[in-house]
Amino acid sequence: MTPTTTTTPAVVCRRCNAWPCTCPDGITVICGDTRRVLADLTPGQFDLIATDPPYSSGGQFRGDRAQPTSAKYNRAEYEYRPDFAGDSRDQRTYLLWSELWLGDCLRLAAPGCALAVFTDWRQLSTVTDAIQVAGWVFRGLAIWDKVQTRPQKGWFRQDSEFIVLGSAGPLDRSTKEGAKVSPGIFRHFPNPNKRRHPTEKPVPLMADIIGTSPNFQNILDPFAGAGSTGRAAKDLGRKATLVEISPEFADLAADGLRQDVLLPTPTPTTGEKDAPRLF
Ligand SMILES: C[S@@+](CC[C@H](N)C(=O)[O-])C[C@H]1O[C@@H](n2cnc3c(N)ncnc32)[C@H](O)[C@@H]1O
Repeated sequence: MTPTTTTTPAVVCRRCNAWPCTCPDGITVICGDTRRVLADLTPGQFDLIATDPPYSSGGQFRGDRAQPTSAKYNRAEYEYRPDFAGDSRDQRTYLLWSELWLGDCLRLAAPGCALAVFTDWRQLSTVTDAIQVAGWVFRGLAIWDKVQTRPQKGWFRQDSEFIVLGSAGPLDRSTKEGAKVSPGIFRHFPNPNKRRHPTEKPVPLMADIIGTSPNFQNILDPFAGAGSTGRAAKDLGRKATLVEISPEFADLAADGLRQDVLLPTPTPTTGEKDAPRLF
């Protein structure tokens, strides 16, 4: 008798447990190492890569970065949130690793695909280098203004994170209907006491990015965390593929996609309602 071999597909959607994904809303959640998973996806399919990779930041020295993410990003007054992976590389290996996954993303990008990568002030120059070494065209920065952050007396508030913008060759701006002139600064509260992930991005922020162009129909987030990119894509009727290494966060991402309607914009907490609104 010929022995039968069963092979488990390397890639499967954590929501529908099938490959190709059969989720009716077009949002696929894959749990695995992004470099391994991206190697199995069809090239040239994505119109926007919007992602928030581990920053490997949170301090000046290697020892600071090597702390668990719960020590770096969780605030004592809020509930425990699990640690996440990949946040303790030193500068050289962070640059090298970023070039590798950004190169993987470029292979999956349709011509003119847009790129939006979050980073902080410490890693900004590393990320702008990495996208160009990987072959993306660097197209400037947008800013996420978090409105309220830790004050530093005699120094400047670090109340922004940066969104490094790029494209796979020339940008396709031919579709005018539904296209927006997005601001260069997006102002959204991080809403720390309701976060499910220590560095979760607000869904309305991701919706602002995705909603910039009607061309952004099929979106990839290779570091999905608790899935804000997928939730925003779903709310806007776009397709998305989310990749997350931690089963715990992949399940949170899948869970956050159960509701059909847009999650309500968080109600401002202490002092936030008095802050000036720019946009
Ligand atoms: C900064 S967080 C993203 C948070 C996300 N934007 C959200 O709103 O929840 C980065 C995520 O990348 C995941 N990660 C780290 N290394 C990874 C890898 N090699 N492959 C896939 N995911 C990875 C971490 O587990 C973490 O959840």
